[in-house]
Amino acid sequence: MAKYFVYFSFTGNGDYIASLLKEKGYEPVKIELEKSPKKIGFWQILKYGGHAGFNTKEKLKEVEFKLNQDDIVIIGSPIWNDRLSTPITTFMSQVEFNKETTKFILYPAGEKTKKSLKQIKKLGFTSEPIVISYPLKKTEECKKLIEGAF
Ligand SMILES: Cc1cc2nc3c(=O)[nH]c(=O)nc-3n(C[C@H](O)[C@H](O)[C@H](O)COP(=O)(O)O)c2cc1C
Repeated sequence: MAKYFVYFSFTGNGDYIASLLKEKGYEPVKIELEKSPKKIGFWQILKYGGHAGFNTKEKLKEVEFKLNQDDIVIIGSPIWNDRLSTPITTFMSQVEFNKETTKFILYPAGEKTKKSLKQIKKLGFTSEPIVISYPLKKTEECKKLIEGAF
């Protein structure tokens, strides 16, 4: 049985959570865009926020990931336009994750995650996601949440 943290990160918040979960035995599996923008500014937020709104499928870098039935998975996503990030929704459309056991960690900049919660439910996942607002600005709070939850 393996434990994985499958996640996306443009600006390091997801990487920070991955480093905490690695200490708890979760192997990080970072999903990356085939072509990643050099910086994330206004235009990139507009572009990828639009992608999230239209649920655009992204071209992803190939990643070595083979899931066995009893593996434990946490999926981590930043919030884009109140929704799951599109690299994660794209990867979720390519891999069959267990709907009952897969957990989610969402990391918005604010507190709003309403549409992403609906997306997760609509896809049939049953667990209630953990929401950590801007982990890199609240590292102690983030550590406590991870410690308590996993
Ligand atoms: C394209 C884009 C859209 C975003 N939209 C939202 C949003 O609707 N709500 C929010 O709270 N944060 C939003 N954010 C901020 C990120 O969710 C937040 O900074 C997150 O922690 C970034 O994770 P990362 O550093 O792992 O990429 C957006 C960021 C990007 C790049």
